[in-house]
Amino acid sequence: MMKDNIIQQTEDYVRQQLGEDATGHDWFHVDRVRRSALHICNVEQSGDPFIIELAALLHDIPDEKLNENAESGQQKLESFLQSIPISNKAKEHVQQIIDTISYKGGNGCELASVEAEIVQDADRLDAIGAIGIARAFAYGGKKGQPIYNPTIQVREEMSLEEYRKGKSTGIHHFYEKLLKLKDLLNTETARKMAESRQNMMETFLEQFFQEWNGKTI
Ligand code: ADP
Ligand code: NI
Repeated sequence: MMKDNIIQQTEDYVRQQLGEDATGHDWFHVDRVRRSALHICNVEQSGDPFIIELAALLHDIPDEKLNENAESGQQKLESFLQSIPISNKAKEHVQQIIDTISYKGGNGCELASVEAEIVQDADRLDAIGAIGIARAFAYGGKKGQPIYNPTIQVREEMSLEEYRKGKSTGIHHFYEKLLKLKDLLNTETARKMAESRQNMMETFLEQFFQEWNGKTI
């Protein structure tokens, strides 16, 4: 019961914080990540579902894109965690999961717990498939990035600076990041969930280029 209350309180806080966001980090994104993470936890029968749910709900709170800077985002997460009645160990664990799972921050670095692996998988699943396609263009549009521009070269390796400057297009983002995510997943359950999402993106890109190149039927 206590745990249910804490989850409800966290949910209310996150809804209020992210409600207005239109960059693909809205409440519904968070809710999908929470549900996928709990599903993976359940199928794999591993990880603490309470920690997973808290970390999934809070994972975008410190995101630099939603805060004035990285420090104020960190501060926001910390103050919220201080305000709920959970053990210090649980607070530290949730904080650590959120610190390590981001694509940029977490890229290549070992995750410290199965809970972190599961929340990261759930967040990555929401960046691929039909939802991933929608989010890529919503984000690109918000950044003023074109849908596609064939004169921009697709590059496998982009520096963090270049990535932040968004020298890219919505379509480029698939080659720079989205198509690679399936091979970076941690759990078998997420890998299975990624299959149809990957097919969806591949079909989409194939059709996109056919239309771009003037297919008439
Ligand atoms: P997450 O919420 O998974 O941590 P990000 O914060 O990196 O992901 O981005 C949010 C959404 O916007 C994701 O679906 C991501 O693929 C998309 N996105 C991020 N950067 C770009 C970009 N340069 N162009 C198009 N889409 C992007
Ligand atoms: Ni996210």
